[in-house]
Amino acid sequence: MKNILILGAGGSLAKQVIPVLLANPEHHLTLFVRNAASVRPFAGERVRVVEGDVLNAAQLSAAMQGQHVVYAGLSGNLKAMAQNIVQAMKENSVKRLIFISSMGIYGETGEDHGAVLEPYRQSAQVVEQSDLDFTLLRPAWFTNDAEVDYELTYKGEAFKGHSVSRKSIADFIGKLVQNETLGIRQSIGIAKV
Ligand SMILES: NC(=O)c1ccc[n+]([C@@H]2O[C@H](COP(=O)([O-])OP(=O)(O)OC[C@H]3O[C@@H](n4cnc5c(N)ncnc54)[C@H](OP(=O)(O)O)[C@@H]3O)[C@@H](O)[C@H]2O)c1
Repeated sequence: MKNILILGAGGSLAKQVIPVLLANPEHHLTLFVRNAASVRPFAGERVRVVEGDVLNAAQLSAAMQGQHVVYAGLSGNLKAMAQNIVQAMKENSVKRLIFISSMGIYGETGEDHGAVLEPYRQSAQVVEQSDLDFTLLRPAWFTNDAEVDYELTYKGEAFKGHSVSRKSIADFIGKLVQNETLGIRQSIGIAKV
């Protein structure tokens, strides 16, 4: 049995990730949301819904108890969120984190994305400086295409591609959860090439 905490469970990417993870009957999900109504369609016996705020350290730490894997697909004050996540995982001896960031945080796309990426850069630094078994995912622009078609690039390599389907990212996240040695302490770009 694997317990997986989904932070930002009402998000557009999480909504594709949740069914992929539930396809494995060993997986038990905790959906952490500010508003339970946003994940009502996923109600089921292997799904627990917890209302809380990632910026509330006590609520986050309580949700972290007994988890094996944490998925974070969040928007907002990402640096403060990353700090709270790292701290709550430490407090609860949870090691495995899959954190959704963005393409471009290292200048690897060759484009100047400007200040808009600053929260992604800062939160990535917090995650990379932790001693967690993290995977930072740097996706290209999301699409709703019903295809699984992606290539990966690693930190230090030039980013390839401009967009990627949510379905593709969810597919790779399913693999990361399944294979406990895949992507550990790596920052991985994902896009259709
Ligand atoms: N869209 C793209 O093309 C693209 C490309 C690359 C990277 N990204 C990034 O990938 C990440 C995931 O994307 P997404 O589309 O799934 O994001 P999203 O739809 O904006 O979802 C983010 C989720 O975070 C939750 N959240 C925000 N603040 C919170 C807090 N304080 N406590 C608890 N939950 C909180 C939101 O909850 P509420 O529902 O309560 O607001 C929302 O469900 C984002 O950082 C996004 O910027 C996106």
